[in-house]
Amino acid sequence: MTARPKIVAINGSERDGNTAHVLRYAAKIAEARGVDFDTVDLRTIRMGPCGPCGDCNRRTVPCVVDDDVPAVVERMSAADGVIYATPVHGFAAGALMQTFIERSGVGYLRFTRPLTNKVGGAIVLARRYSASVAYQHLLMNLLLNRMILVGSGFPAEVHALHVGEAAEDEEGLIHVRRMVDRMIDMIEFLREYRALGGREDALTPRERNERLGLPVENFADEVVDNVHG
Ligand SMILES: Cc1cc2nc3c(=O)[nH]c(=O)nc-3n(C[C@H](O)[C@H](O)[C@H](O)COP(=O)(O)O)c2cc1C
Repeated sequence: MTARPKIVAINGSERDGNTAHVLRYAAKIAEARGVDFDTVDLRTIRMGPCGPCGDCNRRTVPCVVDDDVPAVVERMSAADGVIYATPVHGFAAGALMQTFIERSGVGYLRFTRPLTNKVGGAIVLARRYSASVAYQHLLMNLLLNRMILVGSGFPAEVHALHVGEAAEDEEGLIHVRRMVDRMIDMIEFLREYRALGGREDALTPRERNERLGLPVENFADEVVDNVHG
């Protein structure tokens, strides 16, 4: 955990477009509250698709595909909050975000769930159709990684087609602002709580298993995750 609170945002758009615009808006809100905001543009990193090995769910060590995904996982793991932001393509999250979810999730995150108890948020850009489908898709993956979601009113869905139109969706941007503000409220709350309790980090999976009375040797619940991807 860094000295100043930090949010890492994952941008799943192929262009410097509406998603990037909304994340710059979110960054300004965060920075005004003393929170660092680090955006990872998936279009600029080396990221391959899942390979043909098909052995993810049996592997006991991380993925062997050699690209920048593990470095992004490290950046998320060092943050207090994580935002997944994606445009809708073909009625669902765009391909870059889907690839990232597959590669980071099954390849790395499933082993120790390093995003446990970080504050999660989702932002979806769409012309109009299926924003809610993509939003739920992102939420399920934030929850799979045991992140904490804060209620922030209506979903942070921004309606825009051409580059620049996101700035015109005032209602969508209100919900983005509210979500970022509520994420920061929760990050501050958790930091204060941990400081008062003398704890710097969230529970590790091993500590959590001990507390729940589950086996700590082989992380029984991780095995279930492994089976179901
Ligand atoms: C290949 C493709 C498929 C799209 N499919 C949808 C769709 O199913 N529903 C929708 O509302 N918008 C769809 N859109 C529009 C984008 O979601 C919209 O333009 C968004 O603002 C793009 O965000 P960006 O500028 O950050 O890439 C699609 C755009 C592309 C390029």
